Amino acid sequence: NEGSLWGARFASGPSPELQALSRSTQFDWRLAPYDIAGSKAHARALAAAGYLDDGELTTMVAGLDTLLTAVANGELVAADGDEDVHGALEGALISAVGPELGGKLRAGRSRNDQIATLVRLFLIDHADRIRALLVDLIDALAAQASSHGDAVMPGRTHLQHAQPVLLAHHLLAHCWPMVRDIERLADWGRRVDASPYGSGALAGNTLGLDAELVATELGFSRVVENSIDGTASRDVVAEFAFIAAQIGIDLSRVAEEIILWNTREFGFVRLDDGFSTGSSIMPQKKNPDIAELARGKAGRLIGNLTGLLATIKALPLAYNRDLQEDKEPVFDSVDTLEVLLPAFTGMVATLRFDIDRMAELAPQGFSLATDVADWLVRQRVPFRDAHEISGALVRYCEENGLELHEVPDGEMAAISLHLTAEVREVLTVDGSIASRDGAGGTAPVRVAEQLAALTQRVRDL
Ligand code: ARG
Repeated sequence: NEGSLWGARFASGPSPELQALSRSTQFDWRLAPYDIAGSKAHARALAAAGYLDDGELTTMVAGLDTLLTAVANGELVAADGDEDVHGALEGALISAVGPELGGKLRAGRSRNDQIATLVRLFLIDHADRIRALLVDLIDALAAQASSHGDAVMPGRTHLQHAQPVLLAHHLLAHCWPMVRDIERLADWGRRVDASPYGSGALAGNTLGLDAELVATELGFSRVVENSIDGTASRDVVAEFAFIAAQIGIDLSRVAEEIILWNTREFGFVRLDDGFSTGSSIMPQKKNPDIAELARGKAGRLIGNLTGLLATIKALPLAYNRDLQEDKEPVFDSVDTLEVLLPAFTGMVATLRFDIDRMAELAPQGFSLATDVADWLVRQRVPFRDAHEISGALVRYCEENGLELHEVPDGEMAAISLHLTAEVREVLTVDGSIASRDGAGGTAPVRVAEQLAALTQRVRDL
């Protein structure tokens, strides 16, 4: 079992079946640069504790740098017999600097503290990328909001016309959850910012290695407090997978609306050719595939999270090989978001809104009925009565095929003497929207403030 990390106490090598099951290089090889960074930091700790002299450290670090280059340009890849990235790189180091020196690196560390550290480093890097991609998406939504300052649309609850709102208000409503996702990543960043290196297999190491030194070299601000926790916990991985799933869900809600808006029945948006797809059989089709993929991938992201949680559930301390199953789901979540977000942002940035269509529909479906009730309250009619009167007006309209503003004065008076002609001032979409000027409301002045606040918040993130 030459080249393996653990052959000596075994009379025979691993069976091919075991090797096939055990092998993780097909997905953990992407951790190689982090493994090498960890090894360099660990070599420095070994030198600081007197286990490597200056010359050995220099040779070791140079050897590791050679590996890094060889990994980057694809010259060094895992061999079939390699169990995991750690073993493969140790073998490569031994080839580079010789068995005598190469064999010293593994002192005082375990693959258990290594892998726990590497997965954190990987996620920290990708959290930064995902954060930047989310900012791009927020910017695209905010730009659409700002270029449609006074466009109106039917606001909905239960997917039914409810009250008219500004299109900008609606678009910005999709931005705030994404702002919170970025804040979640930052908050997660505080918890993940502790290095498990030095925890050893589970109980810590005996060699007096400076774990702080390793942590600092790797960019962590501290070391984990408990070596068992350091090697056995994966809650920070699960939490990352949750944030990724939440991002997917937030995108899926935008996606679902774009899919609806892009139907002939809605006709609210048109997709740019570069961000929509055709049909192989129906020449007329222009499909919202990006939005549909976003909706679908939200399911995949949720699956990654739930799979990971199921792996961790009831796992006894400390390290168990089950934990190797943490990587594929969370890597998949990272890859999914990194390929999805740019396409999604492009689709949003190039959407064209049919604001005339939206304006035409905004007052329909008696969406101004609440405005009638509120107007009555301002005339000091108790809201309970106001609701009744306004409801009776809606029923009259429905029975007579009229919109609210089309009811003649006399008929209004017949419904209630409180319904004087002055009520007509709120029976316009613009009047309705302008009157919703309470905190966070859809009035243009509030939405302009909101856009400024969002821009500032994103800048501060
Ligand atoms: N490849 C393992 C993982 O991804 C790390 C190796 C630990 N293996 C072990 N037998 N202790 O979790």
